[in-house]
Amino acid sequence: MRLQSKTALVTGAGGGLGGAIARRYAAEGASVLCSDLDLAKAEATVADIQAKGGTAEAMRADVSVAADCEAQVAETVARFGRIDIAVNNAGVAMHKLALDMTPEEWERVLRINLTGSFLTAQAAARRMVDQGGGRIIQIGSISGQRGNMGGIAYGASKAAVMHVCKVMAVELSSKGVMINAIAPGPIETGLSNHGPSRKQGYIDRIPAGAYGTISSVAGAALFLASDECEWTTGAILNVDGGYGAAGLAYDPAEVGG
Ligand SMILES: NC(=O)c1ccc[n+]([C@@H]2O[C@H](COP(=O)([O-])OP(=O)(O)OC[C@H]3O[C@@H](n4cnc5c(N)ncnc54)[C@H](O)[C@@H]3O)[C@@H](O)[C@H]2O)c1
Repeated sequence: MRLQSKTALVTGAGGGLGGAIARRYAAEGASVLCSDLDLAKAEATVADIQAKGGTAEAMRADVSVAADCEAQVAETVARFGRIDIAVNNAGVAMHKLALDMTPEEWERVLRINLTGSFLTAQAAARRMVDQGGGRIIQIGSISGQRGNMGGIAYGASKAAVMHVCKVMAVELSSKGVMINAIAPGPIETGLSNHGPSRKQGYIDRIPAGAYGTISSVAGAALFLASDECEWTTGAILNVDGGYGAAGLAYDPAEVGG
């Protein structure tokens, strides 16, 4: 078991990626606080973990509220004694053209995806510095690396989430706190309700030729949470089937292969 005796907070743990990460951590021996805006969804993840013999508890937290960001970290420590791992996964999507975006819509996406993620990382890092170390994992997106039509607020929030990871890594790795980000490509979850043409467009551009799975992201999150991640910090780990790496020429037929 790679996370035996560790304690973890996973935000948005009632959703697709957060639920998969929480389940994987618990299966590897961690005690997991599953937080979510939707308590019933977090409780469903916890029930599943407990049914398999794992240790998990649920709490409601809205990461757009600063006090909730602090509270979910404090609750992890109160319930399990310390916080070794924090996964900032809670997030919302928004597809809207730049010229149509209202100030309220812009601020909502940035407040949940960026500010909520930063404030939770900050609260966790303060505990981890006192404890002598820890692991923080920010869930970014390839949408923060490439300019998607309609992705102005979501993409900007995710680009900033990945930059927060770099700055905090520079400031905190000497104190034993390793902070990395995962940039998933399109994964089948409630959030990625892509229409047929966007879906096919992605599949055409992903060298692996398919959408990703929640399990592929959970596997990356497991490495970044583990003791094996001893000298990796400030990194952006793309889990995207090669989408971010690819140029235009990867069809073997085009090069006579
Ligand atoms: N699915 C993808 O293709 C994909 C790709 C790249 C990045 N991501 C990122 O992965 C993360 C998880 O996405 P998912 O695909 O599992 O989506 P999801 O909708 O299945 O899960 C998101 C979870 O976040 C929770 N949430 C929403 N607003 C919240 C708030 N204010 N406070 C607390 N919790 C809140 C939701 O209740 C939900 O359970 C997000 O940050 C998303 O941007 C997803």
